[in-house]
Amino acid sequence: MREAAPQTVYLRDYTPPPYLVDHVTLEVALHPTATRVRSTIRFRRNPATGPGHPLRLDGEELTLIAAQVDGVDINAEPDDLGLSIPSHLLPDTPFVWEAEVEINPQANTTLDGLYMSNGMYSTQCEAEGFRKITFYPDRPDVMAPFKVRVTSDLPVMLSNGNPVASGPGWAEWEDPHPKPSYLFALVAGDLQPTRDTFSTMEGRHVDLGIWVRAGDSDKTAYAMDALKRSMLWDEAVYGRAYDLDVFNIVAVDDFNMGAMENKGLNIFNSRCVLASPATATDADYASIERIIAHEYFHNWTGNRITCRDWFQLSLKEGLTVFRDQQFMGDMRSHAVKRIGDVLSLRARQFREDAGPLAHAVRPEAYAEINNFYTATIYEKGAEVIRMLRLLVGPDAYAAALDLYFSRHDGQACTIDDWLSVFSDATGRDLSQFKRWYGQAGTPHISVTEDWVPGADAAAPGGVTITDTTTSNAEAPAGMGGTYTLTLRQDTPATPGQPLKEPLVIPVALGLIGPDGTDLLPTVVLELTGPEQVFRFGNLPARPVPSILRDFSAPVILSRDTTDAERALLLAHDTDPVTRWEAGRDLARAGLERMILNGAGPDAGYIDALGKMLRDATLDPAFRALTLGLPSQDDMAQGLFTAGHTPDPDAIHRATQGLRRAIATVLHDDLAQVYDGMSTPGAYDPGAVPAGKRALRLGALAHLTRLDDGARARALFTSADNMTEAMGAWTALLTVGLGVEETQRFYTRWQAERLVIDKWFAAQVACAAPDRAVAVATDLSQHADFNWKNPNRFRAVFGALSGNAAGFHQASGAGYALLADWLIQLDAANPQTAARMSSAFETWRRYDPARRAAMTAALERMLAHPGLSRDMTEMVSRMRG
Ligand code: ARG
Ligand code: ZN
Repeated sequence: MREAAPQTVYLRDYTPPPYLVDHVTLEVALHPTATRVRSTIRFRRNPATGPGHPLRLDGEELTLIAAQVDGVDINAEPDDLGLSIPSHLLPDTPFVWEAEVEINPQANTTLDGLYMSNGMYSTQCEAEGFRKITFYPDRPDVMAPFKVRVTSDLPVMLSNGNPVASGPGWAEWEDPHPKPSYLFALVAGDLQPTRDTFSTMEGRHVDLGIWVRAGDSDKTAYAMDALKRSMLWDEAVYGRAYDLDVFNIVAVDDFNMGAMENKGLNIFNSRCVLASPATATDADYASIERIIAHEYFHNWTGNRITCRDWFQLSLKEGLTVFRDQQFMGDMRSHAVKRIGDVLSLRARQFREDAGPLAHAVRPEAYAEINNFYTATIYEKGAEVIRMLRLLVGPDAYAAALDLYFSRHDGQACTIDDWLSVFSDATGRDLSQFKRWYGQAGTPHISVTEDWVPGADAAAPGGVTITDTTTSNAEAPAGMGGTYTLTLRQDTPATPGQPLKEPLVIPVALGLIGPDGTDLLPTVVLELTGPEQVFRFGNLPARPVPSILRDFSAPVILSRDTTDAERALLLAHDTDPVTRWEAGRDLARAGLERMILNGAGPDAGYIDALGKMLRDATLDPAFRALTLGLPSQDDMAQGLFTAGHTPDPDAIHRATQGLRRAIATVLHDDLAQVYDGMSTPGAYDPGAVPAGKRALRLGALAHLTRLDDGARARALFTSADNMTEAMGAWTALLTVGLGVEETQRFYTRWQAERLVIDKWFAAQVACAAPDRAVAVATDLSQHADFNWKNPNRFRAVFGALSGNAAGFHQASGAGYALLADWLIQLDAANPQTAARMSSAFETWRRYDPARRAAMTAALERMLAHPGLSRDMTEMVSRMRG
């Protein structure tokens, strides 16, 4: 394992590669403990960098057997990180580097590079795994066509590109598209294909394959369908066709992330590709659809156009997330998709941006790049592109994307290149907008308003809008009243960035009359200064503003709003996102009063909720979302931002109290929804029946508090699909019932590892605060607990850190348990350990005792001898 000597890499130090690669040939002779890799690499000096540079090849955990330059043995002496050949030993003309190395895939528990998992070989090279396969300039701005010959005694051998030839014990693949090494992939195993075909709009016939372990072939149909829909969508919406003769997907059980977009050979965590009605929930189906699309879309945004260096990671990830969000909206419901995205943005990215791990969408420094595959790079990166599209308009966005693809195809690009495309295509100056990429932290927008009634009724012709920079500018002439909206932006300091500049913030706004009618349909205000005043004249009555429609910018909005205004918006707002938000704000305000002042549950909120529940004109999926309460972590963050010290136990009690009150007051409505929303017939994972199930299970969770679990038990027994079985079982667990169902669930699904992950996770996630640590401890001793499998580790310990009141038990037992296990995992798998360590990023929110316990856990991890570079960087940043 690597010793912790975090060497910081800076964006400002970027220099172009002194040697370029024209072609790579790899011959990989697979063996569990002694795989031999022979590389033949055609190099040439980069005319742009001048003479004299040594040839630097990255290489880690490789045993060098022999190396030659132009057929002549060369005495290369690798250190821990690679090797260098001095310039004077290399010809000025193109030359061939050949090397043979030996590696041990079986011993590779990092799941990075080439490793073995369940008898199969698999690779993960992004970001820097290729250097564990052979010596190479392992950086994304070095792109080359690859030819690969694999030998092994396994029946299936796959690599990137098109198949060239194969025979017993060998297979050859050729990828004509120049690619960076991080997109290299190789798989070998006893795998079963599910096959299909696709004809592109350019007339190319593509063979599609999803390769899985024997026994999993009944779980590939949905992913295949999602893949074909993704291919069609990218042609229809972005004009992008697939560019190889085959497209393969492989499911791997041991995988650090969700999936990987290797050229022509996407590798997936099994949980992100395998689904059957009996084993996968509606949420699993949606997540598979999204991730299949995401990885496929990378073929253009990531592979054909890649990143110059890893500081540009959001160039491909932000854009590809934005594309998968658009796709999912088109496939399902834009409103429901957007609300779901807002929820997860707040839960993960706002939380990150508010703590010690805050960083810019384009960071400037890192020690371990794997620590930067974050919600900020991905989700905030997508939000920035969404704002850009809103500002320039959909047609200009489409024109800019066409220019991006034509100008940069085959290149390794920067975020500056991306923005230049937009300013060239639209003529818009984006220098201020660019701050979104460099400035970390979530902007706060505070809203103040003023109303001057008019002397006369509003004149025909509608509302007039004036954008002024000072608040005492003249009110626009005309009849009717004048409404003034003052928007102020402030971005709090983040680590290394004490001072912030104003951003360009598109604020989508509508005005609603006191009777609920629209006074002003959506307009997009552009906030560019620290404070700006917008006047709306000729209004018939004082409006209620609906601000940040469709969540037009990733900001925290604050406005003194009355509950009556919130109820009006909840009942009448024509924008589904702000409408949903109004309900959420009501819930939050009520919960805060319960937590801080010991108030009882808010009757007005429950009443408004009842109206939504009964409104049959509303999409059930939308009603299910309004039924959800803010998460306990979200409440804690909100209280902290407002200057309070959140008490996780009090938040838990208030949430439980509100749930109980909702169940009691709305019992009849909930029972009616439960009975009315059943989805008879064969299970269909589509958005419409899934929305009904979501609403029905939301109602069930409440009803289970009152009926001793009768409905949930009956549904658990009769369910023919995992969505309802899980919904019923977790409804029982949440109220302390379900002991027998837990046993039955295990017995029934023992052989299905992805279902057993759910079995582990739900018990911890639903445990009462004072039980969560004990439940996690017990489960970590279960015979089926395999801590080296990231899905299983996450099932227990991801669920523990997600159980807010359980993780934050005042005793500190949750912190201590997680720290113990992260230390253990780090020795085998630094990437997953480091990723999960962000459970501690919120320590500053809490009271002195919890802060002390959390920082003690951080110190203990940091002091552990041999802690990885990944963990060392994360823990040091969190400790601050
Ligand atoms: N590019 C992949 C995706 O977004 C994720 C790869 C992450 N790899 C890593 N080492 N963190 O689909
Ligand atoms: Zn991605």
